[in-house]
Amino acid sequence: MTQETVPALTSAEAPTVRDRAVGLRVSGVDKIYPTRRGEVHALSGIDLDIGRGEFVSLVGRSGCGKTTLLRILSGLLAPTAGTVEAGGRSAWVSGHRNDAVFAEFGLVFQEANLFPWFTVADNIALPLKLRGVGKAQRRARAVELCGTVGLSGFEDSHPRELSGGMRQRAAIARALACDPSVLLMDEPFGALDAMTRDRMNLELQRIHAESGATVVFVTHSITEAVFLADRVVLLTPRPGRIRSITGIDLPRPRSAETEASAEFGGIVRDLRTELDLED
Ligand SMILES: Nc1ncnc2c1ncn2[C@@H]1O[C@H](COP(=O)(O)OP(=O)(O)OP(=O)(O)O)[C@@H](O)[C@H]1O
Ligand SMILES: [Mg+2]
Repeated sequence: MTQETVPALTSAEAPTVRDRAVGLRVSGVDKIYPTRRGEVHALSGIDLDIGRGEFVSLVGRSGCGKTTLLRILSGLLAPTAGTVEAGGRSAWVSGHRNDAVFAEFGLVFQEANLFPWFTVADNIALPLKLRGVGKAQRRARAVELCGTVGLSGFEDSHPRELSGGMRQRAAIARALACDPSVLLMDEPFGALDAMTRDRMNLELQRIHAESGATVVFVTHSITEAVFLADRVVLLTPRPGRIRSITGIDLPRPRSAETEASAEFGGIVRDLRTELDLED
């Protein structure tokens, strides 16, 4: 029986992302990369609890271990020591990845990494195809997601016909295809111009509010981190440790007005000062 012939759950029965969203718990995580020139101690003693549906931004200087931590959270990399749990389930059991934990995670990286020979809709629907979802259902979902990320009308375009910002939106839509309960993003807007980035921040804020997913978002931009997050985690390098965790209590939804407020400016200034203290 194909997926298409399975009767769909009514919306009253279907668990929403908000229902399924899980918290993440990182305890005593260390990461050491063995290299030919010796060991690189990338992370040390990382303890972090992320609540269900929370938006956490990770900031810090280049090389402080942000990507390493995100890759550990996404199951792409095993920690050298310590534990990672999602929704109370261990992510790694005796060095083996617990795939069930990561099945509901969506990942977005700095590069959109779309397949150039697939259309936008086919790229977005790829995770559904890999799960055996039928063609008509895949198409319907891809069209819906194009609407969510502002790509309506570009379903049948190829990635080369899109701007950088549009490609990144397609990558976000692809990450959303399976309704992830956890969204892990590594500098997803790093390559975009400032105006597009501002728009993407507003869109991401809306997607987070609508879906209720837990989000961990890596960025070099302190303003972007503060604008989006419930909490900003600042890492310091060699080895990467958590220096501070700042709660951002600014009302939502946030807007250009929020960014212009004295409170926003004060939080950004304090975080910049903390980063500068490391020099
Ligand atoms: N595969 C690897 N092998 C060896 N060392 C690595 C590897 N990946 C990362 N490192 C080292 O681990 C440390 C943390 O790297 P990571 O990529 O996590 O930093 P980052 O905070 O994401 O930096 P950036 O802001 O530049 O993206 C760095 O010293 C880096 O050289
Ligand atoms: Mg990185």
